[in-house]
This record gives sequence, C-alpha cells and structure tokens, in this order.
Amino acid sequence: MSTDKQAFYQMLAAQADALISDETDFIANLANISALLFNEMADLNWSGFYLMKQNQLVLGPFQGKPACVRIDIGKGVCGTAVATGEIQVVPDVHQFAGHIACDSASNSEIVFPLRHRGEIIGVLDIDSPSFNRFDQADAVGLSLLIDVLERRLEQTL
Ligand code: SME
Repeated sequence: MSTDKQAFYQMLAAQADALISDETDFIANLANISALLFNEMADLNWSGFYLMKQNQLVLGPFQGKPACVRIDIGKGVCGTAVATGEIQVVPDVHQFAGHIACDSASNSEIVFPLRHRGEIIGVLDIDSPSFNRFDQADAVGLSLLIDVLERRLEQTL
C-alpha cells in the first residue's frame, strides 16, 4: 500500500475507534461511521450500511442520496459481497453484471462484508462518481476500520 494511503487509513481507523469506543448503540455507531467516511474520504457520493434482516439486505445508516431499500443475497455488488463473503472492488459498476444503480452518479464501488461472531450481519458500501476510485490499497486500508467496527460489535451486540 502507498505510504499516503496507509497513513490516511490508519488515521481514519483511529478516528472511527474514538467515535464509537464510548457508545454501545449499534445504529448510532454505524451512523457516525458512515458520516466519518463520507466527510473524510475524497470523491464519494454515497457511504453506508445494509443490514441482514430475514435473509435480505435492508438499508441502514448512510450518507448520500436516498437509496434502494432491499437487496437480495447474491444480487448487485452488495448481495454478491454477502454471497461470496469477500470484499468487492468494482472499478466500473456498469461492467458489473447485476449492479443495482441507486444513485446514477455512481461509477465505482467498494463493498465489505461486516461480521459478528463469524456470521455476516451486513455490508459497508462506498460509492464514487469517479471510475477506478478504489483499489486493493483501499480494500486493505478500509479493512482496518472494519476491524475496529467488528471488535466494537463483539462487545456491544
Ligand atoms: N450499487 C449497490 C446498491 C446499493 S447503492 O449503491 C447505495 C449494489 O449493486 O449492490
């Protein structure tokens, strides 16, 4: 990872930790993380969470334009992250079969599965109006923030 990105994501993970370490409310913590990402990361049009409810992803706390509410497992980038259990880095959403267009401004996207006690309980979805906005360094860097969040969820959920 480039030193710049590494330093940025270490700082972002530390900020996330500071924001959620004194709060036990799950939704409040997800809301603040989505706001942190939206305000601190350059060139985004959407950042937020979808949460597993009765075997579907349902819209959770987010920043950006109103979005589609329900996504089936295996559908779109978010549903694929759940079905495969893997981070999805999509340089051009228009080339991703089954991509669900919520905000027509989105051109690239990155999605992380969120786990609690080994089970996927939702996803973090981040969208950009630029093509190729996210790469492997963003996946590795943002995983630090996912680790912070998952550790907090283990203590509070
Ligand atoms: N594009 C996503 C849907 C969610 S919105 O981008 C906020 C997908 O294909 O799963």
